[in-house]
Amino acid sequence: MRNDSRTIFASGLEGVVAAETRLSSVDGEAGELIIAGFPVEELASRATFEEVIYLLWHDALPDSGELAAFREELGARRTLPGATLELLRAAAAERVGAMDALRMAAGTVSLGGAGGSYDEALVLVARMPTIVAAYSRLLDGEEPVAPEPGLGHAANYLYMLDGEEPGEEFVRALETYLNTVSDHGMNASTFAARVIVATRSDVVSAVVGAIGALKGPLHGGAPGPALDVVFEIGEADRAELVLREKLGRGERLMGFGHRIYRVRDPRADVLAAAAERLYATDGDGELYKLALEVEKTALGLLAEHKPGRNLQTNVEFYTALLLHGLGLPAELFGPTFAVARAAGWTAHCFEQQALDRIIRPQSVYVGSRDRRWVPLEER
Ligand code: ACO
Repeated sequence: MRNDSRTIFASGLEGVVAAETRLSSVDGEAGELIIAGFPVEELASRATFEEVIYLLWHDALPDSGELAAFREELGARRTLPGATLELLRAAAAERVGAMDALRMAAGTVSLGGAGGSYDEALVLVARMPTIVAAYSRLLDGEEPVAPEPGLGHAANYLYMLDGEEPGEEFVRALETYLNTVSDHGMNASTFAARVIVATRSDVVSAVVGAIGALKGPLHGGAPGPALDVVFEIGEADRAELVLREKLGRGERLMGFGHRIYRVRDPRADVLAAAAERLYATDGDGELYKLALEVEKTALGLLAEHKPGRNLQTNVEFYTALLLHGLGLPAELFGPTFAVARAAGWTAHCFEQQALDRIIRPQSVYVGSRDRRWVPLEER
């Protein structure tokens, strides 16, 4: 970081505070995540996802009347217009990646002119699961399942994926995931959304930009590879051999380490408990046990590999296990993260709009200053 009296330079903006927010607080030293006043452990496994969206948007939990009205408002906006479905069909014909399809289809919310920021946010949050589920089915050569307005947000997402109403444990597990990752400080996609909306651009543009940022492997892309490693290991007694080889080749162990957390990511604990409950009632109990062994072995090897750094399990390790247990294919892990984080992105848009101040940092010019023009024929 370089400072003079008027500017601060920090590569990657590390250590720079870019906004005040009441939405979430990430304490990397203490391993603490607060979402709108609630420790994540208190909120995630109790609230419905609609309650968390409402909390982020209104800074208060809804009462029963408000919750019923909010559920209805979202439920009424889930259906995709024909143009969005046509776009998804064209994307599926070209086997476009699911995050790219989501980014393109989320932009179609501007068709038909949603009225104002709040309505844009409602439509985005309501439609994103429909887009992801429809696209997943189209990729599999199946017709999309129409949304069911009577079901909650999470239950309806699972229903649209496979056409069957999910059991209560499945809904609870998905809601726990969605709540846990609904917001997380000034992460890259949230910052992107705030930069866009700070120009007085619209919420749809901000969310489309945020989806683009989330797609990058340094941000939202680790859970698929984390699960691949568990499958590659296959048997608990192979964990040490496989993981040692990876570290020996200079590879990083996916699902471990974090830029901000210097202790265990609190979201990993919440999702580990949810995965334990899910796999106890339904699913591949052997896979869950294997994942625990892989985690234990990885932590031991990372302590040897980087003594003093305290590399711990991050949110992605148990995300992978939980979403896999819910029957989601790995290519939907990123889009499902977006479905959850849309709650935080839109809430940050409202905060930034209230502040109404453009985000405009500076750059340090490191190019030359003494060039002289050379005519084309002399170059
Ligand atoms: N496996 C092996 N070594 C690691 C790992 C890991 N998972 N994580 C960090 N290290 C090593 C680094 O290579 C570095 O070594 P060096 O000093 O020899 O270069 C050292 O530990 C310190 O690294 P950090 O400064 O703690 O890591 P950084 O902040 O640059 O990166 C990151 C954080 C990208 C999450 C990293 O830990 C990583 O690549 N993890 C694996 C990928 C992953 O799980 N990503 C999801 C993160 S959660 C999220 O973004 C929602």
